[in-house]
Amino acid sequence: MDSRVAIWGVGMLFFALMVVGESGDVGGGGGSSKRRKCEFPAIFNFGDSNSDTGAGSAAFGEIDEPNGMNFHLRKRSSDGRLIIDFFAEKLGLPYLDAPLDTIGTSFKHGANFAVGGSRISPIVLVGSMIPLHLGAQVSEFLQFKSRTIALSDYHPSNNTKNPPFESNYPEPEVFSKALYTIDIGHNDISYIFYNSSVPTVVNDLSNSVQRLLESGAKNFWIHNTGPHGCLPGSIDGCKMFFKEKCELDENGCVKRNNKQAVEFNKLLKEAVYKLRAKYPHAAITYVDVHSSKNYLVFNAKKLGFTDPFSFCCGTPKIYCGTRNGTDNKLLGTACSDPSKYIVWDGVHYTQAGNRFVANLIMNGSFSDPPLPLSEACHKV
Ligand SMILES: *[C@@H]1O[C@H](CO)[C@@H](O)[C@H](O)[C@H]1NC(C)=O
Ligand SMILES: *[C@@H]1O[C@H](CO)[C@@H](O)[C@H](O)[C@H]1NC(C)=O
Ligand SMILES: *[C@@H]1O[C@H](CO)[C@@H](O)[C@H](O)[C@H]1NC(C)=O
Ligand SMILES: *[C@@H]1O[C@H](CO)[C@@H](O)[C@H](O)[C@H]1NC(C)=O
Repeated sequence: MDSRVAIWGVGMLFFALMVVGESGDVGGGGGSSKRRKCEFPAIFNFGDSNSDTGAGSAAFGEIDEPNGMNFHLRKRSSDGRLIIDFFAEKLGLPYLDAPLDTIGTSFKHGANFAVGGSRISPIVLVGSMIPLHLGAQVSEFLQFKSRTIALSDYHPSNNTKNPPFESNYPEPEVFSKALYTIDIGHNDISYIFYNSSVPTVVNDLSNSVQRLLESGAKNFWIHNTGPHGCLPGSIDGCKMFFKEKCELDENGCVKRNNKQAVEFNKLLKEAVYKLRAKYPHAAITYVDVHSSKNYLVFNAKKLGFTDPFSFCCGTPKIYCGTRNGTDNKLLGTACSDPSKYIVWDGVHYTQAGNRFVANLIMNGSFSDPPLPLSEACHKV
């Protein structure tokens, strides 16, 4: 099976949750101007295709055109940048590279362990390639960290290190000061044929965060899971597989996994509270991406976007970036102006959609505690 198709499958065959009709509270929260910026020297990210900036493309082949049409190199499932890219810009750091990606990459200011198609829990899907689940991403990180430190030959006593590693790898002290971002869950709770138990999935996520905390990580920015049932790919998939049995809500979003989505986010928030109690020295921010995306989807027209249930690249029958097996011609082509769309390929957001969500969440309006990204090293 073509690996790209496998990855797409994990993104596409999911019929996710549905969205609740309420829109996010944009005005609430907000950081205090008295708090100081954290000056994070690095970001370490974990997740799925929503934040994969190169791992999937390095491992399974360059992501096909027209992905990346508004950005350099085709490493992302979008026309351009992802939310994590806007975070890097905001914090004055370079875009994150994946350690799986060895050409022209640098990890001095962090690394991205996210892989498209990944889940939190290690469940084997028959006939499909499963990229690194969250626990494996954390294992990869822990080895990245221990080897970086070992090879840097860093000696706090005389502050010397091994020069060859100076340019491309973080300083050892960066690991405790960095921001750890997590955006995963989409593929666990939206994959209808392989439903997981939500408490198990959240427990697995919590265990992964704990492993990072035990390794010395202190600052976390954890996204909850978005309104996948309102993605056009979910709606089309539901209708295609379930025909008249496909249940949609009053907004036209897939209803089926609504309970799981709401439950996931509720349990995740509880898990974050428990982790805060257990690791009082850490700053763990829970970010309600779900509400921020609801706000965007249900105010799309007002905010200058076109129909939020349409998408820019490909069609329900011809996926974005697929090619004719006979003459290799590109079949799933892009719309003329991706910036008018929230959704890029039915499943992933456009650069414009990602930028909008990033701008909504970076100032702390959707965070608990209500801290902006740049102040997420502070506790409540
Ligand atoms: C955060 O940004 C959004 C979007 O720009 C804005 O509507 C909101 O008022 C801001 N909130 C705070 C607390 O600054
Ligand atoms: C720095 O300290 C380490 C460990 O004490 C030692 O092995 C190394 O030779 C020292 N390097 C220099 C340049 O003094
Ligand atoms: C998924 O969950 C639904 C609802 O709880 C259940 O009816 C169905 O059998 C489950 N499917 C699998 C493959 O476990
Ligand atoms: C694929 O290419 C062949 C040969 O050029 C053509 O006959 C066929 O219609 C194409 N299929 C699609 C779906 O465009």
